[in-house]
Amino acid sequence: MKKKLLAAILCVATCACLLMGCGGSSSSDSAEGSSQADASAVTTVTEGVLTMATNAYFPPYEYYDGSEIVGIDAEIAKAVADKLGLELQIQDMEFDSIITAVQTGKVDIGLAGMTVTDERKQSVNFTDTYAEGIQSIIVKEGSDIKSADDLKGKKIGVQLSTTGDIYATDDYGKENVEEYNKGNDAVQALVTGKVDAVIIDNQPAISYVASNEGLVILDTEYVKEEYAGCISKDNEELLEAINGALAELKEDGTIQGILDKYIVSE
Ligand code: ARG
Repeated sequence: MKKKLLAAILCVATCACLLMGCGGSSSSDSAEGSSQADASAVTTVTEGVLTMATNAYFPPYEYYDGSEIVGIDAEIAKAVADKLGLELQIQDMEFDSIITAVQTGKVDIGLAGMTVTDERKQSVNFTDTYAEGIQSIIVKEGSDIKSADDLKGKKIGVQLSTTGDIYATDDYGKENVEEYNKGNDAVQALVTGKVDAVIIDNQPAISYVASNEGLVILDTEYVKEEYAGCISKDNEELLEAINGALAELKEDGTIQGILDKYIVSE
């Protein structure tokens, strides 16, 4: 049974190769021979490896469990890498550096609960989306800020270069926005009274509020958005391969299973 399947895959791969005139590095067979796909079909920064950039302070999308980076994005990336016959390696960096790392070919994909925006689309290609995000507003319990309108003239903490930063700056003015490298630093600034509110994605907001006393999330969806991976505009082939893998992982319920495992409602 398995042999037949393997023979069929080999046949399809050979035919595709003949049709497309594959050549070159014939020595690099798929990583550990474990996967459905042929790693040599895509070009990556390091042969046989899918190098992912993230900012691992964004639970439940990415966070440290001991020394390991886990979460929705890590699991989705692993499933995609398996499909493509690649080994996954994750690099943690500031959120602000991810797009540049992708653009300059230091990593293959940025996967970081990253919102698709028109501005970012000018620098990178986005994969198909895999999750929805909501920008939430966190305040201290008993705060006089009850809605987005009440934020006018208040100090707002955000994570640098995130969409929360962009919207807050647009809507309330740069002088009212304090940028922090990590979402959690913005939340600590709220706890210690340096800012009056934090605008950040809903799922990390839930997690930060659960781990810090005296904070609440306003019952308002400030902005709704979609998350996707970003890939260099110079590697359309990888974009297509990853979209193909994502489509299969959506179809067979893997992505939904990963989301259900981590996503919580308040
Ligand atoms: N969704 C927001 C954005 O794209 C925030 C993402 C922050 N992600 C992270 N891993 N820190 O701007």
